[in-house]
Amino acid sequence: MERLQKVIANAGITSRRKAEVMIEEGKVKVNGQVVRELGVKVGNSDKIEVNGVELTQEVKRYFLLYKPRSVMSAVSDDKKRRVVSDFFTDIPERLYPVGRLDYDTSGLLLMTNDGDFANQLMHPKFEVEKRYIARVKGIPTKEALRKLENGVMLEGRKTARAKVRLQSFDKKKEKAIVEVIIHEGRNRQVRKMFDIIGHPVQKLSREAYAFLDLKGLNAGERRELTHHEVKKLKALTQFGDKK
Ligand code: URA
Repeated sequence: MERLQKVIANAGITSRRKAEVMIEEGKVKVNGQVVRELGVKVGNSDKIEVNGVELTQEVKRYFLLYKPRSVMSAVSDDKKRRVVSDFFTDIPERLYPVGRLDYDTSGLLLMTNDGDFANQLMHPKFEVEKRYIARVKGIPTKEALRKLENGVMLEGRKTARAKVRLQSFDKKKEKAIVEVIIHEGRNRQVRKMFDIIGHPVQKLSREAYAFLDLKGLNAGERRELTHHEVKKLKALTQFGDKK
């Protein structure tokens, strides 16, 4: 059983707040009766009508997108830049990104119309493991990388422990490739962490999200998650992702 306003919002008609207003205005019927109180709970067998139209539950869809660089993690953009929704124009459901990758960051991004699932995955309590590959300016020392592992002060709050590994470096070109594994999802976190140790990120890609990776996909391609993968992701938010 779920709250009526939540069921209406989840059906993709409107936001939860607007659904509440519609209920209060008497525009919603449950099993033929107008319901004006908020908080009424309904189940799968209840017939819900909004403005006289019966509600059909949207099928839940879950996708993995290999987001290319120069694409916004958004459903629309007033500056007319490319957005992640442009890769799903053939899918009738309205999909939203789970969290975001910067415009200039490429890599793995989940897309879904399951709001509860997205919120669970993004909740700081359950933040799942994310693996990034960064190309940075200069060659960070072991000490600098250890600093990142132990946590650095970012906007007044220390970053959580991370795994950081120097993968390769080029002395002549003065750049290095570093693998970073974090659980948090703060705004531009990886870029800011490297700024702090004086090695700005030149290129960033998210290679893995929990147990999912980009295998078999090129930038701009997507695949639907299997039922098993969705189940596993849901389980992570219940039991944590610490290995
Ligand atoms: N950290 C960043 O700096 N950018 C991203 O897009 C993701 C993590």
